[in-house]
Amino acid sequence: MKTAVVLNGPNLNLLGTREPAVYGSHTLADVQKLCADACAAQGFNLDFRQTNHEGVLVDWLQEAGRAQAEGTVVGVVLNAGAYTHTSVALHDAIKGTGLTLIELHISNVHAREPFRHHSYISPAARAVMAGFGVQGYPLAIAALASL
Ligand code: DQA
Repeated sequence: MKTAVVLNGPNLNLLGTREPAVYGSHTLADVQKLCADACAAQGFNLDFRQTNHEGVLVDWLQEAGRAQAEGTVVGVVLNAGAYTHTSVALHDAIKGTGLTLIELHISNVHAREPFRHHSYISPAARAVMAGFGVQGYPLAIAALASL
């Protein structure tokens, strides 16, 4: 059984209390449950993680890239949070590993402040999803199965 990797970046541990008008009231634990159910439906194992540290995300992307090359990982769903808009290191990690990666945002970043309109992740991602709320996570896992 292959593994779907779901990586969450900075401040996503605050889901539930963080700007609920933007991100809703679901917690990260709720999101993990949505992902677990979606993985069960697709016949995937789930590897679900969150960190506030950019370098840790780079390490995890490299780890997932090695596992994908070995055939144990189907791909990655990445919500890089604010690092989306700043991180050449994450761009390079995705390019360098050749990962099948879906960039995901809970909110519609294009309907928000201009500084959220640019993504360093998008040019390296296989697909981009934004604005589906936390339901974007299970949708992205289903999409990984069809990529
Ligand atoms: C986000 C959007 C980013 O602009 C923001 O910095 C986040 C969350 C989203 O899921 O909508 O932390 O990635």
